Amino acid sequence: MVKSKKLWGGRFAGRTVGSVETFTASIDVDSRLYRHDIEGSIAHARMLARRRIISSREAQKIVRGLRAIQREIERGKFPFSPADEDIHMNIERRLTQKIGAVGGKLHTARSRNDQVALDMRLYLREELKRILATLEGLRRELARGAKRYLDVIMPGYTHLQKAQPVLFSHHLLAYVDMLDRDRERMSGCLERVNVLPLGSGALAGTTFPIDRAYVARLLDFPRISKNSIDAVSDRDFVLEFLSASSILFVHLSRFAEEMILWSSEEFSFIELPDRFCTGSSMMPQKKNPDVPELIRAKSGRVFGHLQALLTVMKGLPLAYNRDLQEDKVPLFDTVDTVKASLGMMREMVEQIKVRKDRMLAAAQGGFMNATDLADYLVGRGLSFRSAHALVGRVVRFCLDHHRMIEELSLNELKRFSPKIDKDVYAYLTAEAMVRRRRAVGGTALANVRRRLKELRV
Ligand code: ARG
Repeated sequence: MVKSKKLWGGRFAGRTVGSVETFTASIDVDSRLYRHDIEGSIAHARMLARRRIISSREAQKIVRGLRAIQREIERGKFPFSPADEDIHMNIERRLTQKIGAVGGKLHTARSRNDQVALDMRLYLREELKRILATLEGLRRELARGAKRYLDVIMPGYTHLQKAQPVLFSHHLLAYVDMLDRDRERMSGCLERVNVLPLGSGALAGTTFPIDRAYVARLLDFPRISKNSIDAVSDRDFVLEFLSASSILFVHLSRFAEEMILWSSEEFSFIELPDRFCTGSSMMPQKKNPDVPELIRAKSGRVFGHLQALLTVMKGLPLAYNRDLQEDKVPLFDTVDTVKASLGMMREMVEQIKVRKDRMLAAAQGGFMNATDLADYLVGRGLSFRSAHALVGRVVRFCLDHHRMIEELSLNELKRFSPKIDKDVYAYLTAEAMVRRRRAVGGTALANVRRRLKELRV
């Protein structure tokens, strides 16, 4: 019989074979949780002493040992070992090596199941705060861009066909509102992340007289989980973050796509600074918009992570199952991807050059003033329906004769309706069309100004 040297090895006769050790170990991934693991363990040790489950001298030794381990990890001196599976056992093993048998008391009234739930929550809480700040940074940058290009007119699109002129600033502020909802989703998620699971034990709670409220105070959790089974098996908070991130990436990918389109020669609405682009190894003339392309593409991995974890969780019996270990790659990679992409996006927005002339020129043609001609006729007593039909005939006429509405003479226009007067020409300019869209939420300059004021830029 070979004596196993695992921390959990007491009941085992045989050793774990190397291939299984490699397959089950998560240390390469979860070592990122070391600070949170140590922070949680220190709070737990303090609580054990306060409740006299261990002595205060023992707690002091444990806390000192844990701090020393943190320094070792941060100096790159910590002997990580896959044989100890995960960050929790790597740290516990090292603690006993450093301070002796008393290290074995730290895990009293605790399981790795409530420990890992705690670490994940501490980690995500910290990252969510950073993400919220970065998100806010991008929102402000977009609002600043709107202010900088306040009165630039561009064609607005539906079906990617020219529809009606809008202010470029109004278009940018659409993203500000999307990101505001993303912010709300992320902070709602933060509220539900901010719950203490420690004290749930493996699944049923613990027989020791622990004080969870004290641990919650030490770790600054406003709430404590109410059901031990739920606390160790729940990963809703990760799913929620992945889903909020997926929606955020829908928004980022749409903006990225617009930057790619707008910087193409066909549009030429914006210029991306060289530093966000690369060249081609074959075609010397090329300047490719790699940064927005990659942001657009990274939405794929974030959606994939959400799908992956939903699949891991679906149909899992309560309570903890080792399957839950697979929550880490999706979470960590999403955190990294969200932070990096938000940061890049902010830098890009800060530095894009807008070609007002091209936008305004594009805002001229395309019969974008057709609706306004109908509105004009409504102002002169027609019903919108009959005005719509009449303007349809004007457009047909223009198409047949390769003209634009505003190029028709007054006589030509009067043939369609005697109600049309010469003030129609001023009425149908892009500037006038934008100016009239004053109803709340419309693109009128006055509205955009008001919105920017609300946003305090
Ligand atoms: N590495 C594990 C995880 O990430 C920690 C919990 C292990 N618990 C267990 N009963 N094997 O989920």
